[in-house]
Amino acid sequence: MPRRSLPKIQGNRDLSRYFIPMELEFMSQIDPATAALAQPGDGADKVKRVEYASLAGLTGEEFSQRIFGRVAPTELEIGSGKGLFISGAAKANPERNFLGVEIAYRYALLSASKLAKQETPNGVMICADAARVLRELVPLNSLVAAHIYFPDPWWKKAHRKRRIVRPDVVKMIEDRLVVGGKLHFWTDVEEYFRSGVEIIKLSTNLAGPYSVLERPSTGTLDFHTHFERRTRLNQLPVYRSYFEKLS
Ligand SMILES: C[S@@+](CC[C@H](N)C(=O)[O-])C[C@H]1O[C@@H](n2cnc3c(N)ncnc32)[C@H](O)[C@@H]1O
Repeated sequence: MPRRSLPKIQGNRDLSRYFIPMELEFMSQIDPATAALAQPGDGADKVKRVEYASLAGLTGEEFSQRIFGRVAPTELEIGSGKGLFISGAAKANPERNFLGVEIAYRYALLSASKLAKQETPNGVMICADAARVLRELVPLNSLVAAHIYFPDPWWKKAHRKRRIVRPDVVKMIEDRLVVGGKLHFWTDVEEYFRSGVEIIKLSTNLAGPYSVLERPSTGTLDFHTHFERRTRLNQLPVYRSYFEKLS
């Protein structure tokens, strides 16, 4: 489904507890079309400037302390989009940390603004390529959950290697989950669901897939993510699964 324009984000906010933009150098290995999405906006907002190198090589506790200012069980969302999941999850689970990684600057900013507006500093957005964040920053055995909801399908066969549910990425997720940690994968694209589940089964030792029942919606906001809302309001199917690290 095509994207609609983003709501206007009010400028000049203090997002320093909620938003870590990437250094541009960090984007050098991604394709130009995606890199264009990742360019910073007007820069009017107060954001947390962090040297990526200073986040690398930390233990799980140090990483949690550095990003959230406290040590708590941490969940990662890849591709937060407009931030419905991360803002809802951070509000509903104050005892947990939620780190959202979103490559598109405007979407990362919008998600961080939602977190700031509801004053939930247990949710933090980082604007960067999730594969690189996993590879270089997220410590091993540090996540209690990873969430991938409605990832970009990259329809053309030649572009499939850009999909985020791919062997190297799901293996990195497995290695970064604690025992008992879960990987959640939902999409509206049946072919991506089937091939993604197969990739997870072949590339990791995660147990699953386990199916997830559809939650009845009581209103237009009672959905897991923005894309789930759009898909269900269009009466199209959503394919849901989760996997668990058993050892
Ligand atoms: C189709 S949208 C889904 C957004 C949200 N998860 C939802 O369900 O509403 C996919 C999101 O993933 C982001 N994305 C794509 N590739 C990414 C990457 N390598 N790292 C981080 N985010 C990425 C896109 O910018 C986009 O916002």
